[in-house]
Amino acid sequence: MAYVAKIGPSILSSDLSQLGKECKRMIECGADYLHLDVMDGHFVPNITFGHPMVECLRNAVGAVPFFDMHMMVSKPEQWIRPMAAAGANQYTFHLEATTNPGNLIKEIRDNQMKVGLAIKPGTTVEELAPWAGQIDMALVMTVEPGFGGQKFMEDMLTKVSWLRTQFPSLDIEVDGGVGPDTIHKCAEAGANMIVSGSAVMGSDDPRSVIALLKDVVMEAIQKRCLDR
Ligand code: DX5
Ligand code: ZN
Repeated sequence: MAYVAKIGPSILSSDLSQLGKECKRMIECGADYLHLDVMDGHFVPNITFGHPMVECLRNAVGAVPFFDMHMMVSKPEQWIRPMAAAGANQYTFHLEATTNPGNLIKEIRDNQMKVGLAIKPGTTVEELAPWAGQIDMALVMTVEPGFGGQKFMEDMLTKVSWLRTQFPSLDIEVDGGVGPDTIHKCAEAGANMIVSGSAVMGSDDPRSVIALLKDVVMEAIQKRCLDR
């Protein structure tokens, strides 16, 4: 089994005037990576930040922390080069935003980034499946993308279970409404990369929340190993 448990706080719900500090704080609290939500106001009804901000964050945290760019944008092809130059490590684009995922995957790799492919709640996992062998990570959205703090959509976990069965070593990420109350179900379904925004950022003790989320996922992975 090639995958491991990783927790990636989403900084969307942090104090945005302090983003550099907040990113460093999350790393110090045990985050395995940072999940950076880019929204363009077209693909989703909200705007966040772009590559100039990512470059500043990279300078603030240094070379090591892994940046998973969740690109909620209508033209994912437009930002591949700028994001790579800004210091992004993984470029996660939405299947719904392109007619040619194959070209995007190639261009992301040509720019030395890992490839993530995301699906919204209304998109079936069968639509993602043809690309699963070519990507590093599948992101199953567990809310409609656009805002932090929404209610977790449990019925999305059938997609996670299906992907885990079909692609045993693929990194599978869940994003939206994930926290101590919902992590058990995500872990049982087979998710190993866990995005958590408000549950981590809104806590007085983010270190403990991150540790709890990670323990639950590690246990589920171990159990899966033993059951095989
Ligand atoms: C939503 C974003 C998420 C969001 C998660 O569109 O993709 O990353 O910040 O926040 P929570 O964990 O609060 O749902
Ligand atoms: Zn996200």
